[in-house]
Amino acid sequence: MTAIRAAEPYDLSRLMAFDSFPGDRIVEIVDRRMLVAEVDGVIAGYVAWQTGGCIGKDYVNKLVVDPDYRRHGIAQSLIAALHSVLDGRIFISTGADNVAAVGLLTLTNWQPAGKIMGLRPADEAEIFYYRDL
Ligand SMILES: CC(C)(COP(=O)(O)OP(=O)(O)OC[C@H]1O[C@@H](n2cnc3c(N)ncnc32)[C@H](O)[C@@H]1OP(=O)(O)O)[C@@H](O)C(=O)NCCC(=O)NCCS
Repeated sequence: MTAIRAAEPYDLSRLMAFDSFPGDRIVEIVDRRMLVAEVDGVIAGYVAWQTGGCIGKDYVNKLVVDPDYRRHGIAQSLIAALHSVLDGRIFISTGADNVAAVGLLTLTNWQPAGKIMGLRPADEAEIFYYRDL
């Protein structure tokens, strides 16, 4: 069973065991800008956001599921829970080559908002999406 809740400082060490982003997540946790997904008491994924981080709109800048727990709907559950902490128009983005993320965002009804070149190495575009909560 997957339970979604606000992240707490004691979650940090478990998060860092599978986090794929550089640095640590303590600022997001302390600022209350993170939800975690718990599966049978184990943190299996998280989503974090920057308030007003996309030209004044809230921007979901991190969404990661532990590789051992992928393809079990955890990212979908985290996205579904965003309505409990955010409202209005929110944005998210991913590299165009990230097949998993593009599939996830398409499935969960994010609207394509456009592509930006030059944010990623080589010729990979960053695709932005939005959703109204
Ligand atoms: C992208 C990511 C968050 C998906 O997490 P997840 O919990 O495995 O996703 P879900 O199980 O909720 O998958 C929902 C849907 O997304 C799509 N999807 C997920 N992983 C996929 C993959 N590897 N290939 C193709 N489609 C995929 C599918 O449509 C899937 O539905 P299905 O399993 O019924 O086919 C995860 O792969 C991850 O942490 N990747 C590294 C970090 C990252 O790229 N984050 C970007 C977020 S914008």
